[in-house]
Amino acid sequence: MKLIVAVIRPEKLADVKRALFQVGVTGMTLSRVSGHGGERDVVQHYRGESVVLEFHEKVRIEMACSEEYVERTIQAICEGARTGDVGDGKIFVMPLERTVRIRTGEHDNDALTAINADEVMRQTQLEMRVPKLEAL
Ligand SMILES: Nc1ncnc2c1ncn2[C@@H]1O[C@H](COP(=O)(O)OP(=O)(O)OP(=O)(O)O)[C@@H](O)[C@H]1O
Ligand SMILES: [Mg+2]
Repeated sequence: MKLIVAVIRPEKLADVKRALFQVGVTGMTLSRVSGHGGERDVVQHYRGESVVLEFHEKVRIEMACSEEYVERTIQAICEGARTGDVGDGKIFVMPLERTVRIRTGEHDNDALTAINADEVMRQTQLEMRVPKLEAL
């Protein structure tokens, strides 16, 4: 298991959520955070200028994933969050030692929220099939 932490632009949150849902990732935690990603703002003063390190509003998303979901999760975040400009965000991937679902006592992969891509794909295909059936 891995814990994937992504720090993204708040205005890209809807796109990232959609991309994650499409690959079947539905368990996540969101926080509003302040972040600094290397940008330097120059402030003009009467006697010259100085460089300040400003913090910008960002959204932090945490997702615990089984190994088979790691790459598709990273790819979905990148697709949803990228604008091509500096400040698009960062993804951190950490080993995750244990997961426990409190309600059932399940552990590790069994305790990860039903990240069930097969089910999502089935639903998507069903939705796609409906208009075709109606057209007949
Ligand atoms: N080394 C880091 N450690 C912790 N958080 C970071 C780090 N780098 C960036 N972040 C977080 O990610 C946010 C977005 O970073 P940002 O997209 O500017 O990364 P970057 O590597 O500078 O890429 P870019 O060149 O596109 O600006 C930051 O506001 C901060 O919250
Ligand atoms: Mg940056």
